[in-house]
Amino acid sequence: MNSLLLQCRPGFEGEAASEIQAHAERLGLSGFARTQASQGWVQWQMNDAAACETLMQSVRFAQLIFIRQWARGQFVDLPEKDRLTTLLGAFRAYPRVSQVWLEVPDTNDGKALAGFCKKFQAPLEKGMHKVGCLRANAPLPGRIQLFFLNSQRVFVGLVEQTNAAPWPMGIPRLKFPREAPSRSTLKLEEAWHHFVPREQWDDRLAPAMTAVDLGAAPGGWTWQLVQRHMRVTAVDNGPMDKALMDSGLVDHQRADGYVFEPRKPVDWMVCDIVERPARTAWLIEQWLGHGWCREAIVNLKLPMKTRYAEVQQILARLEDFFDDAGVRVSIGCKQLYHDREEVTCHLRRWN
Ligand SMILES: C[S@@+](CC[C@H](N)C(=O)[O-])C[C@H]1O[C@@H](n2cnc3c(N)ncnc32)[C@H](O)[C@@H]1O
Repeated sequence: MNSLLLQCRPGFEGEAASEIQAHAERLGLSGFARTQASQGWVQWQMNDAAACETLMQSVRFAQLIFIRQWARGQFVDLPEKDRLTTLLGAFRAYPRVSQVWLEVPDTNDGKALAGFCKKFQAPLEKGMHKVGCLRANAPLPGRIQLFFLNSQRVFVGLVEQTNAAPWPMGIPRLKFPREAPSRSTLKLEEAWHHFVPREQWDDRLAPAMTAVDLGAAPGGWTWQLVQRHMRVTAVDNGPMDKALMDSGLVDHQRADGYVFEPRKPVDWMVCDIVERPARTAWLIEQWLGHGWCREAIVNLKLPMKTRYAEVQQILARLEDFFDDAGVRVSIGCKQLYHDREEVTCHLRRWN
């Protein structure tokens, strides 16, 4: 059990490795990454099982930006026949858990394994129950995550359910709403799922709240806000979806999002403008710094090669800015499943 398996968006293996390395270094731990380009996962090899456990216990999953899902464990080779017996043998080194998930890389090769995983789930759970390693009332809220590279090679991983992605492979199953004007709509919905606990939606995403959507056209994000019955100022020189405008909840302002200022503070600012990260950071500073909004979801586009370093630099800049201004702002950042060459930031002002 001396390695971590880190899942990420294919093409972001370097960012996931840099991210875990930074956390390990901060804790005085060492390790190295085994990765292959565009495979959507990284194996982070450490000295021993204790180092892996310390690392996972010292880092909250919610802090991770490029890592979609993680587990500590080891790769196991399975025979062509009777894979179950080999797996049940491997589980002996693991504590009793209350869940088992079957996961695959987010690639075409991974998708081709979906049928195999579906067929294997029921006999696996039955076998685990029989030998006592899977129990609904297991003392620790643990989960076994099996990450299959193919039907004969699997990473047998262990996580604490409360410190890992709440969705298999870190991918929320959101359905594209047919009435929404653009696919981007899922980015904002996923951001809310990620940054706002479900039990707080009625207070923090409440009807009659006000919002500004910068770079709103054609209206996928505005559509989400309107679904929550908020009144939205949609700022964009481009045209907004007609049906959305007919809701009567949207005021379309043909203006520059970098110049626009709200007449009164609003509850939410959301922004999906394609811009340089430094300029987007400036926009965040204006809105949260002046108290023009209480919460914000802002997409940070990452066109450059040094994407991990760039995100760290922007987050450090924002923290310094709000510290210097005496404004208490919590900042979250994640590369969501629906994000491409970008990450999503959530900001909340507390004073
Ligand atoms: C990625 S699209 C937004 C998609 C939108 N979130 C949705 O869900 O439909 C970016 C938008 O930003 C707008 N935009 C670009 N620069 C802008 C600026 N300076 N001010 C306002 N809007 C801008 C573009 O016109 C474009 O409609």
